[in-house]
Amino acid sequence: MLERKAMRIMAVRRLLQVAAIALAVLLLWAIFMRGDVGNDAGLPSSPGEELTDGHAPGVRRQDDGIIKVGLTMDTLQEERWIKDQEMFGEAVEALGAEFIVMTADSDDAKQIEQAETLISMGVDILVVVPHDAEATATIVNKAHAAGIKVMSYDRLVRNADVDLYVSFDNERVGELQAEVITKLVPEGKYVFIGGADTDYNAHLVKKGVFNVLQPFIDRGEITVVFDQWTRNWLPANARDNMRAALRANEGRIDAVIAGNDATAGGAIEALAEWGLAGKVPVAGQDAELAAAQRIVAGTQTMTVYKPIRQLAEVAAELAVKMAKGETPRADRLVNNGKIDVPSVLLTPIAVNADNIDETIIADGFHSREEVYKLIER
Ligand code: GAL
Repeated sequence: MLERKAMRIMAVRRLLQVAAIALAVLLLWAIFMRGDVGNDAGLPSSPGEELTDGHAPGVRRQDDGIIKVGLTMDTLQEERWIKDQEMFGEAVEALGAEFIVMTADSDDAKQIEQAETLISMGVDILVVVPHDAEATATIVNKAHAAGIKVMSYDRLVRNADVDLYVSFDNERVGELQAEVITKLVPEGKYVFIGGADTDYNAHLVKKGVFNVLQPFIDRGEITVVFDQWTRNWLPANARDNMRAALRANEGRIDAVIAGNDATAGGAIEALAEWGLAGKVPVAGQDAELAAAQRIVAGTQTMTVYKPIRQLAEVAAELAVKMAKGETPRADRLVNNGKIDVPSVLLTPIAVNADNIDETIIADGFHSREEVYKLIER
């Protein structure tokens, strides 16, 4: 009995000895890895010291020299975002960097959580397509606390110290829409179907639209009889808003400017219910395939084409530069409510049935077969 007990005690003692040795080895390994003197790997010499490569404790950063570019996206709901994700990823990898992307399906809490994950994975630069311009400010603060710079991609994060904003000139998008429509309808009743209120791009586009409309409004030539944002850019919400506008004006609407092609499609659905599709000029944005088909069929007047590959490649190049600690040249400033954010804004292109071949099709954004499929049987 005693013997067995002694045996057990001895076994426990041996076990403890082994565990102690293992712990000692681990400790030694950790000290060795820390390389306490000289710090050539830029690791902290004492707990809490800022890492020379800028990363905070708790951020696992592999010092393998491979740059990690993290992208957090709002959604893949619109056709363009699928292109953005693909083309940006390709461009980042072509520069020899690693690409990690997460999509939040228009859920703010999920986007913040995903950004935290990317930060804890030790990305070298965080690229953000915000769902909600205000709610994502916390992402910028968290990234900066971890020593990671932040780029706003296409959409601007508001009220935060964003390091760089890369997009198309969204105010110019709105101006192009209104310039085309006011040429066709210099007088009459207009409906403005705005984008999502949570998206600062929708506000910039609206500013551009009214830059052009205001003089007509002031002269009493144009009346905006309906002006609503579209929650989450959903076509069904745009359709319902357009139905309300048509009912309120007994179908007497002369022109529609919509935040993008998806919402323009919703508005055209409502116009069709009143037999007005193709009779009332409609403006959109994004050069979606369905919109291109509507333009050659005559139910949509124009769209604004934004060459996504250009945006993706410029953004990838600048993101990798920032990850290397460089400060990219930015020739524009966009105020986000807190700072004038250094910005690179690319040029959007107005497209209608007259120039669709030499723009969208010539660029291979959509093939001629696809665009004319519904009218050339
Ligand atoms: C905007 C973007 C548009 C449009 C919209 C809906 O921010 O600039 O191209 O697609 O989002 O996702």
